Amino acid sequence: MIFQARVWDPLVLFLLISLTSRYTTLVQADADFLDVRTNLDRDRSGKRTDPKDKHFHEALFDRHYDGRFASSPLPEANRLSHLAALVQTFLTTMSDIGQETWIMHGTLLGWFWNQKILPWDSDLDVQVSERTIHFLAKYYNMTEYRYRLPGFKIATYLLEINPYYKIRGVEDQLNAIDARWIDTETGLYIDISTVRANDTARAQGIEGALMCKDKHHYVEQDIFPLRDSFFEGIRTKVPFEYAALLKEEYGDIALTRTTYEQ
Ligand SMILES: *[C@@H]1O[C@H](CO)[C@@H](O)[C@H](O)[C@H]1NC(C)=O
Ligand SMILES: *[C@@H]1O[C@H](CO)[C@@H](O)[C@H](O)[C@H]1NC(C)=O
Repeated sequence: MIFQARVWDPLVLFLLISLTSRYTTLVQADADFLDVRTNLDRDRSGKRTDPKDKHFHEALFDRHYDGRFASSPLPEANRLSHLAALVQTFLTTMSDIGQETWIMHGTLLGWFWNQKILPWDSDLDVQVSERTIHFLAKYYNMTEYRYRLPGFKIATYLLEINPYYKIRGVEDQLNAIDARWIDTETGLYIDISTVRANDTARAQGIEGALMCKDKHHYVEQDIFPLRDSFFEGIRTKVPFEYAALLKEEYGDIALTRTTYEQ
Protein backbone atom coordinates (compact mmCIF):
# COMPACT_ATOMS: atom_id res chain seq x y z
CA MET A 1 0.00 0.00 0.00
CA ILE A 2 1.29 3.44 -0.88
CA PHE A 3 0.79 5.95 1.87
CA GLN A 4 -0.47 9.17 0.38
CA ALA A 5 -1.17 12.28 2.33
CA ARG A 6 -1.25 15.97 1.84
CA VAL A 7 1.41 17.85 3.69
CA TRP A 8 -1.02 19.37 6.19
CA ASP A 9 -2.78 16.11 6.93
CA PRO A 10 -3.16 16.13 10.74
CA LEU A 11 -1.90 12.55 10.95
CA VAL A 12 1.34 13.47 9.19
CA LEU A 13 1.77 16.48 11.41
CA PHE A 14 1.24 14.33 14.46
CA LEU A 15 3.80 11.80 13.26
CA LEU A 16 6.30 14.54 12.52
CA ILE A 17 5.86 16.09 15.95
CA SER A 18 6.16 12.81 17.80
CA LEU A 19 9.23 11.88 15.80
CA THR A 20 10.85 15.22 16.58
CA SER A 21 10.21 14.97 20.30
CA ARG A 22 11.44 11.42 20.34
CA TYR A 23 14.65 12.54 18.69
CA THR A 24 15.10 15.26 21.31
CA THR A 25 14.72 12.81 24.17
CA LEU A 26 17.20 10.50 22.52
CA VAL A 27 19.94 13.09 22.18
CA GLN A 28 19.49 14.21 25.78
CA ALA A 29 19.79 10.71 27.18
CA ASP A 30 22.60 9.66 29.46
CA ALA A 31 25.87 8.69 27.80
CA ASP A 32 25.06 5.12 28.59
CA PHE A 33 27.56 2.30 28.66
CA LEU A 34 25.93 0.63 25.65
CA ASP A 35 26.11 3.82 23.59
CA VAL A 36 29.75 4.60 24.22
CA ARG A 37 31.44 1.30 25.07
CA THR A 38 34.62 0.42 23.18
CA ASN A 39 35.88 -2.98 24.26
CA LEU A 40 34.10 -4.05 27.44
CA ASP A 41 31.01 -6.22 27.58
CA ARG A 42 30.04 -5.16 31.09
CA ASP A 43 29.80 -1.70 32.66
CA ARG A 44 32.26 -1.15 35.54
CA SER A 45 31.02 2.35 36.35
CA GLY A 46 29.31 3.18 39.62
CA LYS A 47 26.13 4.11 37.76
CA ARG A 48 23.89 1.63 39.56
CA THR A 49 25.15 2.52 43.01
CA ASP A 50 25.72 6.28 42.60
CA PRO A 51 23.01 8.77 43.64
CA LYS A 52 20.46 9.32 40.86
CA ASP A 53 21.42 12.93 40.16
CA LYS A 54 25.14 12.30 39.76
CA HIS A 55 26.15 12.59 36.12
CA PHE A 56 29.72 11.25 36.00
CA HIS A 57 30.26 7.76 37.38
CA GLU A 58 33.75 6.81 38.48
CA ALA A 59 34.76 3.17 38.10
CA LEU A 60 33.96 0.79 40.95
CA PHE A 61 37.53 -0.54 40.94
CA ASP A 62 39.28 2.88 41.09
CA ARG A 63 37.74 6.35 41.09
CA HIS A 64 40.43 7.68 38.75
CA TYR A 65 39.02 5.61 35.89
CA ASP A 66 35.80 5.72 33.86
CA GLY A 67 34.28 2.25 34.22
CA ARG A 68 32.54 2.43 30.86
CA PHE A 69 35.95 2.01 29.23
CA ALA A 70 38.14 -0.06 31.51
CA SER A 71 37.77 -2.99 33.86
CA SER A 72 40.99 -2.55 35.82
CA PRO A 73 43.63 0.09 36.55
CA LEU A 74 46.63 0.27 34.23
CA PRO A 75 49.85 -1.36 35.36
CA GLU A 76 51.85 1.22 37.30
CA ALA A 77 54.59 1.31 34.67
CA ASN A 78 52.18 2.41 31.90
CA ARG A 79 50.09 4.94 33.76
CA LEU A 80 52.28 8.00 33.44
CA SER A 81 52.70 7.81 29.67
CA HIS A 82 48.92 7.51 29.21
CA LEU A 83 48.33 10.46 31.55
CA ALA A 84 50.87 12.51 29.62
CA ALA A 85 49.13 11.68 26.33
CA LEU A 86 45.81 12.58 27.95
CA VAL A 87 46.91 16.08 28.91
CA GLN A 88 48.87 16.65 25.69
CA THR A 89 45.85 15.80 23.52
CA PHE A 90 43.52 17.86 25.70
CA LEU A 91 45.67 21.00 25.59
CA THR A 92 46.19 20.57 21.87
CA THR A 93 42.47 20.13 21.19
CA MET A 94 41.44 23.15 23.27
CA SER A 95 43.98 25.28 21.48
CA ASP A 96 42.79 23.94 18.08
CA ILE A 97 39.18 24.84 18.81
CA GLY A 98 40.19 28.16 20.35
CA GLN A 99 38.95 27.49 23.89
CA GLU A 100 40.83 28.79 26.89
CA THR A 101 41.85 26.43 29.67
CA TRP A 102 44.53 26.35 32.37
CA ILE A 103 46.00 23.73 34.67
CA MET A 104 45.28 23.71 38.42
CA HIS A 105 45.72 21.78 41.69
CA GLY A 106 48.14 18.80 41.60
CA THR A 107 48.70 19.31 37.88
CA LEU A 108 49.87 22.88 38.52
CA LEU A 109 52.15 21.62 41.29
CA GLY A 110 53.74 19.19 38.81
CA TRP A 111 54.19 22.08 36.39
CA PHE A 112 55.80 24.16 39.13
CA TRP A 113 58.41 21.50 39.81
CA ASN A 114 59.32 20.22 36.37
CA GLN A 115 56.60 21.13 33.82
CA LYS A 116 55.49 17.52 33.99
CA ILE A 117 52.98 15.34 35.80
CA LEU A 118 54.24 14.31 39.25
CA PRO A 119 55.29 10.66 38.96
CA TRP A 120 52.92 9.52 41.73
CA ASP A 121 49.87 11.42 40.40
CA SER A 122 46.87 9.58 39.05
CA ASP A 123 44.62 12.47 38.20
CA LEU A 124 44.77 15.67 36.23
CA ASP A 125 42.90 18.91 36.82
CA VAL A 126 42.16 21.79 34.53
CA GLN A 127 39.81 24.75 34.75
CA VAL A 128 37.81 26.77 32.26
CA SER A 129 35.73 29.95 32.40
CA GLU A 130 31.92 29.98 32.23
CA ARG A 131 32.09 31.26 28.70
CA THR A 132 34.14 28.23 27.67
CA ILE A 133 31.92 25.65 29.35
CA HIS A 134 28.82 27.15 27.69
CA PHE A 135 30.52 26.99 24.33
CA LEU A 136 31.72 23.41 24.81
CA ALA A 137 28.27 22.30 26.02
CA LYS A 138 26.61 23.90 23.03
CA TYR A 139 28.90 22.74 20.24
CA TYR A 140 31.27 20.02 21.44
CA ASN A 141 29.44 17.69 23.82
CA MET A 142 30.23 14.02 23.09
CA THR A 143 32.75 14.84 20.38
CA GLU A 144 35.54 12.35 19.81
CA TYR A 145 39.14 13.05 18.84
CA ARG A 146 41.58 10.60 17.38
CA TYR A 147 45.30 11.11 17.85
CA ARG A 148 48.25 9.10 16.68
CA LEU A 149 50.75 9.18 19.50
CA PRO A 150 54.41 8.23 19.39
CA GLY A 151 54.77 4.65 20.56
CA PHE A 152 50.98 4.20 20.77
CA LYS A 153 48.42 3.10 18.28
CA ILE A 154 45.63 5.54 17.51
CA ALA A 155 43.94 6.73 20.69
CA THR A 156 40.41 8.11 20.90
CA TYR A 157 39.38 10.76 23.42
CA LEU A 158 35.86 11.77 24.35
CA LEU A 159 34.78 15.22 25.57
CA GLU A 160 31.68 14.89 27.73
CA ILE A 161 29.92 17.86 29.34
CA ASN A 162 27.93 17.44 32.54
CA PRO A 163 24.37 18.76 31.96
CA TYR A 164 24.37 20.01 35.57
CA TYR A 165 27.00 22.59 34.63
CA LYS A 166 24.07 25.01 34.45
CA ILE A 167 23.62 24.73 38.20
CA ARG A 168 26.09 27.25 39.58
CA GLY A 169 25.86 26.69 43.32
CA VAL A 170 28.09 24.63 45.60
CA GLU A 171 25.02 22.73 46.90
CA ASP A 172 25.27 20.52 43.79
CA GLN A 173 28.26 18.58 45.17
CA LEU A 174 27.45 15.47 43.16
CA ASN A 175 28.27 17.40 40.01
CA ALA A 176 31.24 19.53 41.00
CA ILE A 177 33.05 18.34 37.85
CA ASP A 178 31.63 20.11 34.80
CA ALA A 179 33.25 18.08 32.05
CA ARG A 180 35.68 15.28 31.38
CA TRP A 181 38.24 14.48 28.74
CA ILE A 182 38.27 10.70 28.67
CA ASP A 183 40.69 8.20 27.16
CA THR A 184 38.23 5.67 25.73
CA GLU A 185 40.80 2.90 25.81
CA THR A 186 42.26 3.12 29.31
CA GLY A 187 39.37 4.90 31.04
CA LEU A 188 41.73 7.58 32.45
CA TYR A 189 40.29 11.09 32.40
CA ILE A 190 40.92 14.77 33.11
CA ASP A 191 38.53 16.64 35.40
CA ILE A 192 37.44 19.95 33.94
CA SER A 193 35.86 22.42 36.34
CA THR A 194 34.44 25.85 35.75
CA VAL A 195 35.51 29.00 37.56
CA ARG A 196 32.46 31.23 37.98
CA ALA A 197 31.65 34.64 39.35
CA ASN A 198 30.67 34.44 43.03
CA ASP A 199 27.64 36.73 42.85
CA THR A 200 27.03 36.61 46.62
CA ALA A 201 30.55 37.82 47.32
CA ARG A 202 30.41 40.45 44.59
CA ALA A 203 27.13 41.75 46.00
CA GLN A 204 28.98 42.18 49.31
CA GLY A 205 31.58 44.29 47.55
CA ILE A 206 34.36 41.73 47.00
CA GLU A 207 35.48 42.73 43.53
CA GLY A 208 36.26 39.97 41.05
CA ALA A 209 35.22 37.18 43.46
CA LEU A 210 35.30 33.77 41.77
CA MET A 211 34.23 30.31 42.89
CA CYS A 212 34.15 26.70 41.80
CA LYS A 213 31.48 24.11 42.57
CA ASP A 214 34.24 22.14 44.34
CA LYS A 215 34.31 25.03 46.88
CA HIS A 216 37.61 26.55 45.85
CA HIS A 217 37.41 30.33 45.71
CA TYR A 218 39.60 32.91 44.05
CA VAL A 219 39.61 36.50 42.85
CA GLU A 220 40.14 37.47 39.22
CA GLN A 221 43.72 38.66 39.91
CA ASP A 222 44.69 35.18 41.18
CA ILE A 223 44.06 33.66 37.77
CA PHE A 224 44.08 36.42 35.15
CA PRO A 225 45.92 37.41 33.07
CA LEU A 226 46.91 33.78 32.44
CA ARG A 227 50.61 33.14 31.87
CA ASP A 228 51.92 31.17 28.88
CA SER A 229 54.05 28.14 29.54
CA PHE A 230 54.60 24.50 28.62
CA PHE A 231 53.36 21.31 30.25
CA GLU A 232 54.47 17.87 29.09
CA GLY A 233 55.98 19.64 26.07
CA ILE A 234 52.72 21.31 25.00
CA ARG A 235 51.72 24.97 25.26
CA THR A 236 49.55 25.63 28.28
CA LYS A 237 48.21 28.49 30.37
CA VAL A 238 48.82 28.80 34.10
CA PRO A 239 47.14 31.09 36.66
CA PHE A 240 48.88 34.44 37.19
CA GLU A 241 49.46 33.96 40.94
CA TYR A 242 50.45 30.30 40.65
CA ALA A 243 52.83 30.32 43.61
CA ALA A 244 50.34 31.94 45.99
CA LEU A 245 47.61 29.54 44.85
CA LEU A 246 49.82 26.50 45.34
CA LYS A 247 50.91 27.67 48.80
CA GLU A 248 47.32 28.22 49.82
CA GLU A 249 46.31 24.77 48.65
CA TYR A 250 49.32 22.67 49.66
CA GLY A 251 51.23 24.79 52.19
CA ASP A 252 54.56 26.63 51.76
CA ILE A 253 56.46 23.39 52.06
CA ALA A 254 55.00 21.98 48.83
CA LEU A 255 57.10 24.49 46.92
CA THR A 256 60.36 23.87 48.72
CA ARG A 257 60.59 20.32 49.99
CA THR A 258 62.26 18.05 47.48
CA THR A 259 61.30 14.70 48.98
CA TYR A 260 57.95 13.02 48.74
CA GLU A 261 56.44 10.84 51.50
CA GLN A 262 59.81 10.23 53.12
C1 LIG B 1 26.07 15.58 26.68
O1 LIG B 1 25.68 14.40 26.07
C2 LIG B 1 25.38 13.36 26.98
C3 LIG B 1 25.06 12.13 26.18
O2 LIG B 1 24.02 12.36 25.31
C4 LIG B 1 24.22 13.78 27.86
O3 LIG B 1 23.98 12.80 28.84
C5 LIG B 1 24.52 15.11 28.54
O4 LIG B 1 23.37 15.57 29.21
C6 LIG B 1 24.94 16.15 27.51
N1 LIG B 1 25.41 17.35 28.18
C7 LIG B 1 24.90 18.55 27.95
C8 LIG B 1 25.55 19.70 28.61
O5 LIG B 1 23.96 18.73 27.21
C1 LIG C 1 30.91 33.07 47.72
O1 LIG C 1 30.96 34.23 48.51
C2 LIG C 1 30.36 34.12 49.78
C3 LIG C 1 30.40 35.50 50.43
O2 LIG C 1 31.72 36.00 50.54
C4 LIG C 1 31.09 33.07 50.60
O3 LIG C 1 30.46 32.90 51.86
C5 LIG C 1 31.06 31.75 49.83
O4 LIG C 1 31.82 30.79 50.52
C6 LIG C 1 31.63 31.94 48.44
N1 LIG C 1 31.48 30.69 47.71
C7 LIG C 1 32.53 29.96 47.34
C8 LIG C 1 32.20 28.66 46.72
O5 LIG C 1 33.67 30.33 47.46
